[in-house]
Amino acid sequence: MSTQKLSTQALHAGHDTTKTAGTRAVPIYQTSSYVFNDTEHAANLFSLKELGFIYTRLNNPTNDILQQRLAAIEGGIGAVVFASGTSAISTGLLTLLKAGDHIVASSSLYGGTFTLLNVTLPRLGITTTFVDASNPENFKKAVKDNTKAFFVESLGNPKLDVLDLEAIAEHSKAAGVPFIVDNTVASPALLNPIKHGANLVIHSLTKYIGGQGNSLGGAIIDAGTFDWTNGKFPEFTEPSEGYHGLIYSEALGAAAFTFKLILEGLRDFGGALSPFNAFQIIQGLETLPVRIKQHSANALELAKWLEGRDEVEWVNYPGLESNKYNALAKKYLPKGQSGLVTFGVKGGFEAAKKVTDATEIFSLLANIGDTKSLIIHPASTTHQQLTLEQQAGAGVTQDLIRLSVGLEDIEDLKQDLAAAFKKI
Ligand SMILES: Cc1ncc(COP(=O)(O)O)c(C=O)c1O
Repeated sequence: MSTQKLSTQALHAGHDTTKTAGTRAVPIYQTSSYVFNDTEHAANLFSLKELGFIYTRLNNPTNDILQQRLAAIEGGIGAVVFASGTSAISTGLLTLLKAGDHIVASSSLYGGTFTLLNVTLPRLGITTTFVDASNPENFKKAVKDNTKAFFVESLGNPKLDVLDLEAIAEHSKAAGVPFIVDNTVASPALLNPIKHGANLVIHSLTKYIGGQGNSLGGAIIDAGTFDWTNGKFPEFTEPSEGYHGLIYSEALGAAAFTFKLILEGLRDFGGALSPFNAFQIIQGLETLPVRIKQHSANALELAKWLEGRDEVEWVNYPGLESNKYNALAKKYLPKGQSGLVTFGVKGGFEAAKKVTDATEIFSLLANIGDTKSLIIHPASTTHQQLTLEQQAGAGVTQDLIRLSVGLEDIEDLKQDLAAAFKKI
């Protein structure tokens, strides 16, 4: 494992320039497939006797550099990239689970993930118990005989709850199930869940890692720490019907899940990342460490400014001393608390919509983690399909406005919001 620090790894990890004709930038290998030397070479690649490129749905040299870089900065043994964060989550869960299995998840998840777990996976026989993650004991209480995974967001979107990862990891270890942490909002530049007991880390690369709001992508980073031979996961210890009798745990050891994700997850569900998007995301990743510092500094300053405004009922940012997650933020996010701020305006649902409609620098759209500032009113948009009770679990109140604070001058951002407040 490299001893290089984050900023160096973000620029160099995974790219051996001697293997890419000396190109200083990571090249885009825009190809769907790869020429085999002969049929024996092809057969060896398919049977894993030799490792190499077969078809871009499974792997690609540009994607592979991104995978190695992500594994390095999150501290994993391997990573697999996908067409979107959602593709990473659904392919990851469908590779791991089968009908009859059960997940324990935090109730405060991105709306799309909540619906996947709450509505779509139950149709396939995979059920989830959602728990209030502020008390780690709730995970232990929800474990059943068929529980096969814990799933959380390290910094929930949009609740911005900082989870006590180490306490939850203890319960997942006791239950013998992998602890899966979506680390999208924090980003690997502020928090590495593997250091706190996560077995698998998920990212929507669309957000801070790509960082420019131009390319969708997702990733799963495997810590290589989960014991797939503990008796709960026969798919890893018995011959695989789907891959000519391969016994993943015997053949691939700690990398069993990473390979299963490629050989079965990408092969069967097909959510491969385009090499062009991988290239764009690599450009973003190279500046992540400097960008996220400024996102965090701008967000903290704006949160403090909002606290002093008469139009504002409450402000939620884990970096604020007044915030209920501040102690956990000091432990898990000491370098910065990322760029999301939520707040409530006096006047509730209608007033929140008016403010959201009135900003000029903050763009009204459904994304986070862009260099440009973004705004949304979740109750009428991203969380519209949830019941009021489910919205409450996700931390979405009727008056809540979510900001993704960008890299513009902070005074311009304050002025933009101050002008919007005049509408209420
Ligand atoms: C925390 C989190 N995870 C996953 C996703 C899904 O990612 P994508 O939009 O790349 O599919 C999102 C999207 O907003 C998110 O906020």
